Amino acid sequence: MSKNPKKPTQASKADKYALYQRAVQESEVEVKFFNRVFKKLFNTKPTTLREDFCGTFAICCDWVASQKDRIAIGVDLDPEPLAWGREHNLSKLKPKAQERVTLLEDDVRSVGKVRVDVLAAQNFSFWIFKTRPQLVDYFKVAYQNLADQGMMVLDMMGGSECWDEGHVDVRKYKRFTYEWEQAMLDPITHDARFHIHFAFKDGSRLEKAFTYEWRFWSIPEVKEMLLEAGFDDVHVYWENTDSEGEGTGIYRQREHAPADPCWIAYIVGVRAGETATLKK
Ligand SMILES: C[S@@+](CC[C@H](N)C(=O)[O-])C[C@H]1O[C@@H](n2cnc3c(N)ncnc32)[C@H](O)[C@@H]1O
Repeated sequence: MSKNPKKPTQASKADKYALYQRAVQESEVEVKFFNRVFKKLFNTKPTTLREDFCGTFAICCDWVASQKDRIAIGVDLDPEPLAWGREHNLSKLKPKAQERVTLLEDDVRSVGKVRVDVLAAQNFSFWIFKTRPQLVDYFKVAYQNLADQGMMVLDMMGGSECWDEGHVDVRKYKRFTYEWEQAMLDPITHDARFHIHFAFKDGSRLEKAFTYEWRFWSIPEVKEMLLEAGFDDVHVYWENTDSEGEGTGIYRQREHAPADPCWIAYIVGVRAGETATLKK
């Protein structure tokens, strides 16, 4: 609550998508990661990208801005974040680059016209699919949406803190505080609920700006389902840590990792093509 009830609160003036992008997304970093992994796999640069669950499609925009021959396709069911992204992200690109972004207000389980080099599904969004058949079906469509040599990149989170109902991760920014609340996790079904809240210096809050009802999947389950859906190989990228045990933001392919109370990792599903020699 604001101290002066007549004055609009910072929360009432806030734009939840702008705050989300500032706090949650690092689309330029993701694009660099996709380049590096694709090059390692296929020894060439990727040009086409599909961003499933794209929301405000920040990755699409950074993708087309990163190279003149790149095209991006963003897919999301919800017209609201797509409209926000058109106004705030797409409009910042040069006109020619804008033309290289296609937006589809559609279900990610739709087979697209273009088969892409990189299919990205970020911020755990695929956890919306709560059963094995649903998720395997989605992965089958994702595989079809990839070119003969292509990769699907998913992110995952986990660690003991995620099992702590009521646990809140807090990050402070200049104008607001971001809170990620682990609201519920059912150990029998792995149904999980998360909220994003934003708090402001005047004491006002954007409570439950975003809420996610997901299934808490594990890395081995996702690896198994990608292989079942037809992917030729699945690699896990784990974050390197410094001497203090803090994450460095650099992810390397790993077969094993130490226990960590709060981790984020990437899973890369590989469509290898007939003649590919996969580099481990
Ligand atoms: C957690 S947000 C992720 C936004 C963005 N990818 C990011 O990294 O921040 C999840 C998005 O998935 C969309 N979504 C949920 N189910 C979907 C489906 N079946 N097909 C397409 N989009 C879906 C929602 O509308 C929402 O914008």
